[in-house]
Parts: sequence; structure tokens; C-alpha cells
Amino acid sequence: MELSFVHRFVTATDPNSKATILVLHGTGGDESDLIPLAQTIAPGDAILSPRGKILENGMPRFFRRLREGVFDEDDVRFRAGELADFVTAAAAAYDFDPAGVVAAGYSNGANIAAAVMLLHPGVISRAVLFRPMVPLQPDQRPDLASARVFIGAGRRDPIVPAAETERLAALLREYGAQVSLHWTDSGHGLAAEELQAARSWLASGNRYSSAVKRAPLK
Ligand code: MLT
Repeated sequence: MELSFVHRFVTATDPNSKATILVLHGTGGDESDLIPLAQTIAPGDAILSPRGKILENGMPRFFRRLREGVFDEDDVRFRAGELADFVTAAAAAYDFDPAGVVAAGYSNGANIAAAVMLLHPGVISRAVLFRPMVPLQPDQRPDLASARVFIGAGRRDPIVPAAETERLAALLREYGAQVSLHWTDSGHGLAAEELQAARSWLASGNRYSSAVKRAPLK
């Protein structure tokens, strides 16, 4: 089967694992960047890591922006749809359970993960979002009652103001998601402490959603 993103897939090393970590890099990253991060926060799980299709001055991203922090919302919608389709197709191609998909995104990757949750809530219902922003306001209210989200935020982040983090947490909660907001005294770069916090959060029952059903094979 042809999958629409350049990507890496790493098979689970833990035979009891039911989760697949959907790793989404930040601006200028690629599909290899955050494999070690996934292995740190979710050791033993399978990893699916696509490369963003947009190039901004040669740097891969998951959607277009007009300038820093100002997004092209039509492109966010289109790219979120593409990524949702990719995840569904990859589940069939690699035979993993869609209910075990956990997004782990950093910066631009966290923003596209949040966009998929807001626009295609059945595809991602577990997410670890490091330094996310509100990617867009959905036209239709998504049902996120079965969704759980860990947000890793930096108090000194020059790109994501604290109010923006709080706005995303409030939006996800308004739609029913359980949100765990973890602040560290860091900037836009990640702190070891929050990787540990994300790992504990995932280990305490947050890597599988029985609400997501396998799509019938076409
Ligand atoms: C974005 O464009 O998604 C955010 O500004 C974060 C970034 O990638 O710099």
C-alpha cells in the first residue's frame, strides 16, 4: 500500500504493547528527529513518524504559516485531514490498532496533532503535546469526551505565551478532554523533567482508548 507521507515505522519491542506513538516533529525536523523522544517517554511501543510535507525555507513543517504564531487555517484543515488519512492507512498497512495511537508532538508537530484532535476526533484520542498553541477554532464542536491530553509547557517560552497554552487547555477541556497541564521553568526547548512526567502519565493508563474502533477493511 502506498502511504502518503515520507515516514519511519519502528516495530514495538515490548510484546505486550498495544500503543503506537505517532511522532510529529517541530519546524525544521524530520522523521528521525523524535524517535529517541518516543523511546524515552514510551519505551517498547511501536513508533510511526511522518515528515511534514510543507517546506518553509527548506525546513519541513506540517502546515503553512503566514508568520510565527499566525497559521494558514485553510492549510491547517487540509493538512490535518491528510494526516488523519495517513494514520488510518498506516494502521491497516502495518497492522496496528488505531485505538492505541498516541500522538507525541513538539511545537509545530504538537499543533498539527491538536488540529487532528479538533477536526478528526476519532483518529487521535491520546496525545502528548510539547509547546503547543491553538491551531484553529473548529467550526463544529468535536466530541473529545474520551480524549486525554498531556501538555508540556515552558514558563519562559518566547514562542508560546502562557495564555496561549491555557487557551488550548481550556478549549480541549470545553470539548470534554481530560487535560494534564505540566509547566516547567524552561523555554521552547524541552526539559528532561517533562519527558519524565510524560512517561509517567503514559504509564498510568493513558496510552489506549477503547473508544476508537478499527475501521472496516475496504
Ligand atoms: C508553528 O508554526 O506551528 C509554531 O509557531 C511553532 C513552530 O513551529 O515554530
